[in-house]
Amino acid sequence: MLRLTQSPTEPAFVQDPYAFYDRARESGDLFFWEDYGLVCATSHRAVSTLLRDRRLGREAPAEMAPDHPPHTRPFYDIEAHSMLELEPPRHTRLRGLVLRAFTSRRISALAPEIAVLCNQLIDDFPNGAFDLLDAYGRIIPVVIITRLLGVPEDRAGDLLGWSNAMVAMYQARRSRAIEDAAVDAALAFRGFIADTIAERRMQPGDDLLTHLIAAEEGGDRLSLDELVTTCILLLNAGHEATVHTIGNGVKLLLERDLRSVDAAVVEEILRFDPPLHMFTRWVYEDVELFDHVFRRGDQVSCLLAAANRDPAAYVDPASFQARRQGPANTAFGGGIHFCVGAPLARLELEIGLRSLFERRPRLRLAEPPRYADVYHFHGLERLMVEG
Ligand code: HEM
Repeated sequence: MLRLTQSPTEPAFVQDPYAFYDRARESGDLFFWEDYGLVCATSHRAVSTLLRDRRLGREAPAEMAPDHPPHTRPFYDIEAHSMLELEPPRHTRLRGLVLRAFTSRRISALAPEIAVLCNQLIDDFPNGAFDLLDAYGRIIPVVIITRLLGVPEDRAGDLLGWSNAMVAMYQARRSRAIEDAAVDAALAFRGFIADTIAERRMQPGDDLLTHLIAAEEGGDRLSLDELVTTCILLLNAGHEATVHTIGNGVKLLLERDLRSVDAAVVEEILRFDPPLHMFTRWVYEDVELFDHVFRRGDQVSCLLAAANRDPAAYVDPASFQARRQGPANTAFGGGIHFCVGAPLARLELEIGLRSLFERRPRLRLAEPPRYADVYHFHGLERLMVEG
């Protein structure tokens, strides 16, 4: 297997990781990434297969469960109930309860509200050059997810701060300060959600939180800890990736002078420049896949963004084609952990981008955008625009 060295924080890689992915994919479906000490899948077929193979999963095998330092305990206590970190049967139960409350009817009913919000934000754009992420991209997903969940919208700033601090635990460079901030954020987030749940129990509404509280499956309600974790997961997962896809998408369209947006354009943005590149799986039993023998306890990473540029799956994958043919892209993952929020994210992206270009047809880049040096989110530092 090809072994490659590539620092995930090297500036050229941060700005364009795709050249490295192409080099890695040329030698086959899998390569060994020295800097992570991990076998990684780069082809569309390998990524799609590994994400769906039930002999692999997100939860560590019991004997491999990581020994987290005691000071990080409050953070991992919350993670312990996250469907994203669990496998069946707990994953099935939690995901089922969420999906019942997260119906497609409830999501599509949000369309008019998303459009009103986008228009209000566009009305308030400052004159001259401004950061579109601050004025638009960062606001839409967090406001919509707070409304959907039924948590007070005026706390959106706190939620963003807590969420950023918690997500930082997954970045390449992790320090004691990052761990302490994540623990503080987890505790504050927990207290806030527990208070909101108590209020909602007294005063039910037509929101996701009320439905989650009431959700029953075989008489089995979500426990308070599960409810808290599920809300945190939905709030965290529910905005960061969408923010960065709005940024990456606007950049792509402005650079190519494309201004007409529909569902197919959104899909091509998600294929061409997705916000999340790497998801790792544990191996539960000895198995040979793509000419490599995996042992129980091994880990393998699926490089979603590399799969999306696989020439065996897409013709001329490095070109942006609004009417592209080909298999579904892997931006939202695959298999049992496939993104719960994909329909909401797609709706926000389509309405957000379409409203922007319809209302601001002369919008242009005010400076060349740069990607931020955080490999766990492939998104822009800022997106200065004018017009
Ligand atoms: C463009 C935006 C988004 C992208 C690219 C994205 C991507 C992903 C990916 C790749 C996974 C699977 C991770 C894995 O298999 O290991 C995932 C899972 C998840 N996403 Fe998203 N996501 C987005 C938006 C959202 C939104 C808006 C929500 C919620 C409202 C959300 C909630 C979740 C949840 C709860 C999971 C865990 C599902 C499970 O473990 O069964 N995501 N997302």
